[in-house]
Amino acid sequence: MWIQDILAKKKTIFALSPMADMTDSPFCQIVRMIGGADVVFREMVSSEAIVRENAKTMGMTDFVESERPIVQQLFGADPLTMANAAEIVMRHAGPEGIDINMGCPVYKITSNFNGCALMKEPSRAAGIIREVKRAIGATPLSVKIRLGWSDPDEFRTFIPIIEEAGADLITLHGRTKVQGYAGVSDWDRIQEAKKIATVPLLANGDIHEPSEVWEALDQTHADGVLIARGALGNPWFFSLAHPLAQQVDLKEKMRIIREHARLHLVHYGRGNLITFRKHLAWYFKASRLGCEIPHIKEIRACLMQVNNFSELESVLERVAPLQ
Ligand SMILES: Cc1cc2nc3c(=O)[nH]c(=O)nc-3n(C[C@H](O)[C@H](O)[C@H](O)COP(=O)(O)O)c2cc1C
Repeated sequence: MWIQDILAKKKTIFALSPMADMTDSPFCQIVRMIGGADVVFREMVSSEAIVRENAKTMGMTDFVESERPIVQQLFGADPLTMANAAEIVMRHAGPEGIDINMGCPVYKITSNFNGCALMKEPSRAAGIIREVKRAIGATPLSVKIRLGWSDPDEFRTFIPIIEEAGADLITLHGRTKVQGYAGVSDWDRIQEAKKIATVPLLANGDIHEPSEVWEALDQTHADGVLIARGALGNPWFFSLAHPLAQQVDLKEKMRIIREHARLHLVHYGRGNLITFRKHLAWYFKASRLGCEIPHIKEIRACLMQVNNFSELESVLERVAPLQ
């Protein structure tokens, strides 16, 4: 039971939030390798694709042992399909937990009653939770929600419904679906949610810097935090959030980028790094580098054209020579 295990050990849960196309196995391995995160949530996969045993989607649920404890997120609108998919994922990959996406605001997802659209249909949402719970037995089931669809107070009625249906943990992004990413995550409302919830609750949204973790915990009284964008290009986020953390120098950053690229190549087996460029863009944001680097604009432009490992090596050498 990953939730109780972590809470019994250290009181607060530091978790990597699910991010489509980003929190894949190589990135989760890097986060775990650096340390500081208690659990990683893998990006959402479609329950419909899982029950069809679509090879690419099944592959997205694969992980290596070092990623544990790991939670696999599913999205879908049909209770029985979701239950079937959860059972298949448990049999195929055996993660520590299953998470249900009830927070995604993207039209492609909500137009099929998936993601945050489920907050408009509490009885369907409860049905999904009940069926998935029945399918996965003792495996913890978490649910990721927003404050509401358009009303930022919807969580007040929604939380008791999903708890009653069987949610073991709730993660709450402090925005509505209608807000998308506009405005700021409402940590005061997350505090209200924490008072309502009887299961552990993780705060999410706008915890961009490691130092803000403690601010968010103080303000929300949540049982932990779920970090998304703050960890992109910054897999050190979780270790840096610990009080006695040491800053990371440029050489170490370049070493981890090399290692991440190597894992990416091994995982995707494509022989090129084109799909790794999105991570490079994050790693080389000014806020991530933490120091001035000569010719940085030119270096960023080169990185966005990197095709293979040796091309990447030669750009990284310019930033911080290995010897
Ligand atoms: C690129 C990207 C992909 C995301 N994919 C997912 C996803 O698959 N499932 C999910 O529940 N949330 C997803 N989210 C939302 C994040 O998990 C998180 O709730 C949101 O970004 C707010 O947290 P932050 O301020 O720490 O980024 C995604 C966010 C980003 C930026």
